[in-house]
Amino acid sequence: MTQEPITLLQNKRIVLAVTGSIAAYKAADLASKLTQAGALVDVIMTEAAERFVTPLSFQSLTGRPVYTNLWQNESSGALPTHIAHVGLAEGADLLLVAPATANTLAKLAHGLADDLLTVTALAARCPIVVAPAMDGSMYQHPATQANVATLRQRGVTIIEPESGRFASGLVGQGRLPETITLLGHVRLALGRSAALAGKHVIVTAGGTHEAIDPVRFITNRSSGKQGYALAQAALDAGAAVTLVTASDLPQPVGAQIINVSSAEHMQQAVLEHLATADALLMAAAVADFRPQSRADQKIKKKDDSDEAPTIILARTPDILLSVKDRRSTTGRPYVVVGFAAESEKLLAHARAKLERKGLDLLIANDITAPDAGFEVDTNRVVILGADGSQTPLALATKTRIAEAIISRVTHLLP
Ligand code: C5P
Repeated sequence: MTQEPITLLQNKRIVLAVTGSIAAYKAADLASKLTQAGALVDVIMTEAAERFVTPLSFQSLTGRPVYTNLWQNESSGALPTHIAHVGLAEGADLLLVAPATANTLAKLAHGLADDLLTVTALAARCPIVVAPAMDGSMYQHPATQANVATLRQRGVTIIEPESGRFASGLVGQGRLPETITLLGHVRLALGRSAALAGKHVIVTAGGTHEAIDPVRFITNRSSGKQGYALAQAALDAGAAVTLVTASDLPQPVGAQIINVSSAEHMQQAVLEHLATADALLMAAAVADFRPQSRADQKIKKKDDSDEAPTIILARTPDILLSVKDRRSTTGRPYVVVGFAAESEKLLAHARAKLERKGLDLLIANDITAPDAGFEVDTNRVVILGADGSQTPLALATKTRIAEAIISRVTHLLP
């Protein structure tokens, strides 16, 4: 799958330091994904890292010189090495050490400066993210744990290694997380100083499930993609994000995830977190109807008859109306965004909905277009504002639509 450019990473200079862990091969994939996403990736390799992967691999993947030696001569556009450590650190947006061995963790914790990586780390003024990877017993060793704690105290972000099976055959905590997880941490670190830093955003996503009996439910075609894209865009903008979801798409790194099933369940979760929320984006396709009662046992068909049960439906609570009610006394959240999927008279229905539900923005979506709405990766929406504004967005990926919506929300926040 080719990777969509990540706006937050455009022209960001990331120094990726690779050390001598068997997980070094995974750093090649990370370097590739970061580059495809738009980052400028300068790779530093320790001597031990070169035993696992070659500099040529990283050079080919990043299209930039790779730095391996504190003393190497200037070549092919690389910085002369007597100033490389300062040159690499200066102007870097992030220093990411992945994978980080126990040895490198120890050196970083104690301020040693005996190779290009450690010298660069001391010279760096940008955020530092470290992803330890080693055998479980080495990671759990009190010496390593103390080094990790020291780095944390100093403001370094530690990406916890995952549990699983090692190359040695042993099982424990020490595996380098997958690229997608590492990328998520890079985004969190870079987003921390962005426009929504210090703000709390709630996003709902997915189609709710309304139970008929213990095995059957009523749901809709919502995939949750637009909601997840909104959660990621809010994270990239630096917000603390609560994602209340009825979908099981891969979780955006850094979001507080609350899994829900029914409309009622979603309402509870939203109301519970409302008091601290700056913005609420209700992207979920909440069911309008649920079975009036849920059978305790699976409803059985009769083998000797064609008889079928009748399911009586009841209305679900309207979450946005309950939010409107709560907001009228607490004033929070400051910004509420609703979504409308319509198949006819899009704008007239959408404007009426904005007013009835007391919204600041309403994202209107024509679900009859084949390239917009449910399941697909693209969307075509009109943003209606409580101020009477009406902004059509051209067909774009759900990621880009999400960024445009988050940007509007940012401007509305006090
Ligand atoms: O009324 P309609 O379902 O078209 O409104 C859509 C908007 O209202 C969406 O933002 C959806 O998340 C929200 N909604 C809700 N509670 C419901 C149904 C929809 O908050 N029961």
